[in-house]
Amino acid sequence: MHDVLSPFTFARGHRTVRNRCALAALTNKQSHEDGCLSDEETRWLTHRAKGGFGIVTTAAANVTKTGKGWEGELGVYDDAHLPGLRNLANELRSHGALSLVQLFHGGIRAPTSLTGVQPMTASATVLDSDEHGTAREMTAEEIEATVEAFGQAAQRCEGAGMDGVELHGAHGYLIAQFLTRHCNRRTDEWGLEQDPVAFLRTIIHRVRERTSPDFLVGVRLSPKMPQLGFTFEEGMRVLDAVKELELDFIHVSCWDILETAEHNGTVLPMTQHYAEAIDKRVPLMTTGGIWSADDAQLAMAMGADLVGVGRVGIAHPDWPELLSRRGKTIGRPPFTVQHLKEASLSPTFIDYMRRWEGFVAD
Ligand SMILES: Cc1cc2nc3c(=O)[nH]c(=O)nc-3n(C[C@H](O)[C@H](O)[C@H](O)COP(=O)(O)O)c2cc1C
Repeated sequence: MHDVLSPFTFARGHRTVRNRCALAALTNKQSHEDGCLSDEETRWLTHRAKGGFGIVTTAAANVTKTGKGWEGELGVYDDAHLPGLRNLANELRSHGALSLVQLFHGGIRAPTSLTGVQPMTASATVLDSDEHGTAREMTAEEIEATVEAFGQAAQRCEGAGMDGVELHGAHGYLIAQFLTRHCNRRTDEWGLEQDPVAFLRTIIHRVRERTSPDFLVGVRLSPKMPQLGFTFEEGMRVLDAVKELELDFIHVSCWDILETAEHNGTVLPMTQHYAEAIDKRVPLMTTGGIWSADDAQLAMAMGADLVGVGRVGIAHPDWPELLSRRGKTIGRPPFTVQHLKEASLSPTFIDYMRRWEGFVAD
């Protein structure tokens, strides 16, 4: 088993990352109304590159104006976003990190109050928690236009000097919606009968067409999505198809890497099932509840090649350096506002973190 602080080289593009520590995508509400990066957002991400993270991923970034999921979201749908992305790419590279932009479309979770239009997804759908109303079915032309928007967004990211993109196929947003029977009851070529991953597959092809061969392209998946009736078994079937695609990494979003699931009669941590199914065909990143060096090594022992973190990276910009100082205690929530300010969180971001129970000490 490799050490989490050992370097890793991506097989396809030969890009080497200085360690296995990745800052996962973290929405922070700091982008401008028009989707352009703010100085605060650039500062918070750059601080993580300075702190030794091998990979720094941006927050989810919407690939179309109407795919926006929340206020303060990063945009990547217009060339007006390029200067900010270019500056960020330069900053992250100058501090030794590889940079990824997470490409996102909210689908049913792109509320009318933000976009001015009715949300759309694979098939007309009402969510149980009906905060976003009913989504209408996308036409074939709209699906093609959305695929193209993902392709163009990736092209824009490469043009800005980013090292790659992570397609947000997790957490119940548009790509994930196409994977579930709850949202996708189509009988055309985008339906689940013909190809359970048709939309994702086509996006990956388009992104590859629009970018150079060494540009990193990964996908983030949820192993299960109970709110959309998507089970772990269905997740494993999706994985079987996804692991054959032209990807540089697959990122499984566990929320808790210790959580187990049953597959083929065996109960194992979800990451381990993913690692066994992928069988080293594609590098695997896992995320969820990792704080200490032991947690990170456990993730590696489960078969992960890369270890993603969210909350510990918010609180500790220099988390990889803390790991290198063996035995160093890594502080846990709650964190004072002063601590978070010193970790380069703006008041807006700190306020957002109050939604995560027990994170901010007030
Ligand atoms: C404030 C916050 C914002 C998040 N934003 C995103 C996001 O934009 N995209 C995404 O895929 N996951 C997002 N997540 C999930 C994280 O990437 C990560 O998977 C999750 O926090 C579990 O990891 P952790 O236990 O290390 O925090 C977010 C989590 C938090 C706490």
